[in-house]
Amino acid sequence: MPNLELKKNELQKLYPINTAINNKGHLVISGHDVTELVKSYGTPLYIIDETTFKYNANEYINALKKHYDNYLILYAGKSFACKRIFKIANAMGLGLDVVSGGELYTAIKAGFNLKNIYFHGNNKSEDEIQMAIKNDIGRIVCDNFYELELLQKNAKEANKVIDILIRLTPGIECHTHEYIKTGHLDSKFGFDLEYLDVVMKIIVNSKNLNLKGLHSHIGSQIFEIEPFVDSVEILLDQCKHIKDNYNIELSEIDIGGGIGISYTTEDDPISIDKWAQATTTRLKERCKTLGLNPPKLICEPGRSLIAPAGVTVYEVGSIKQVPNERKFISVDGGMADNPRPITYQAKYTAVVANKMNSKELEKVTIAGRYCETGDILIKDIELPKVTHGDLITVFSTGAYNYSMSSNYNLAPRAACVLVNNEKSEVIIERETYDDIISKHK
Ligand code: LLP
Repeated sequence: MPNLELKKNELQKLYPINTAINNKGHLVISGHDVTELVKSYGTPLYIIDETTFKYNANEYINALKKHYDNYLILYAGKSFACKRIFKIANAMGLGLDVVSGGELYTAIKAGFNLKNIYFHGNNKSEDEIQMAIKNDIGRIVCDNFYELELLQKNAKEANKVIDILIRLTPGIECHTHEYIKTGHLDSKFGFDLEYLDVVMKIIVNSKNLNLKGLHSHIGSQIFEIEPFVDSVEILLDQCKHIKDNYNIELSEIDIGGGIGISYTTEDDPISIDKWAQATTTRLKERCKTLGLNPPKLICEPGRSLIAPAGVTVYEVGSIKQVPNERKFISVDGGMADNPRPITYQAKYTAVVANKMNSKELEKVTIAGRYCETGDILIKDIELPKVTHGDLITVFSTGAYNYSMSSNYNLAPRAACVLVNNEKSEVIIERETYDDIISKHK
């Protein structure tokens, strides 16, 4: 079990920032005893700590303000999309990156400032494009030639001039899982740089498309600063090409999201301040060299804002000791609420929320409850001796857990509760069996 007291300097990355242990030996998040939250809301339970989300957002805001005051931070909604989190992001002045009609609809219903919404995706449907145009959202990030045609056609039909960015594939290799790399050339996302002139010819001949800037997203869970800096440089070089050849000076570059976080103490994330300093220093230098006006810098963090704010609590059920082998501790959730271990071999850290001071440890494997051998949440973890009814709590589950959850085995999706120093509140209700069959005929 990680000793929380000794790891205060890592709290902000691996645990919600106000994590503590009370005198009953229970895990406490922003003043809420996790065992009490479970009594009120059941398990499996996603807990999102509002203070941590805001703290992380402020880290970006402060770093960018300090190093370069012309910026916009878009919360990458796909990491955890729901009305309440969108409202908090909007109130903090963040913009929003959406990738589907569903996320856009949720943002509209949450009252999000539409001008701060950027719409991504490699295969937006015509309906989605029409929804974006009708609602006059900030930018549509054009990904490919087919979309360019659809944008032109639909903007013309709506008799509007729409502001767009072009997504480029900068050819940057970064070290992360194969499935979450996006900036390398052999990727389904974005235009290859060599097609830029073809794209520009279409745009300059269109009366309905107003190109505001360029975008690239190199991947996710990245622990290096250099690929982000390279991406700034590549985008600015293309801005220069566009200025020289088409007489258009672009006003923004968007370098996407991707900053990694700690899932275990072995992970070593980069500092947001150093990232901001390095990217903006290169931006300023490069603009000077190229004779460009420094554009607005846009970034799209998802995981690094919301992942450390979230934990998932499970109740232990069956326990199986394989003779002379592994001990499986089965919990009441698994791959349906957290598909990351089975999809990316993702590693996590867990504790037993009701036994935080227990010193007697044993090595166990935390298994999910779904009908799939690979449904293992954490392999070989040291935990206090666990028994039925204990509450396993997995850290850093705020991003890409609820948002990637499913009804596999027709399991109802777990509830999500938002906590802060004042109160706890359900922001997504637990699904019922009736919810599950509500669309069945
Ligand atoms: N911007 C764009 C265009 C993106 O595609 C993404 C993530 C982000 C921003 C936010 O990236 P972040 O800051 O969260 O790394 N399901 C995977 C991650 C997929 C990321 C998809 N795109 C996972 O669970 O690791």
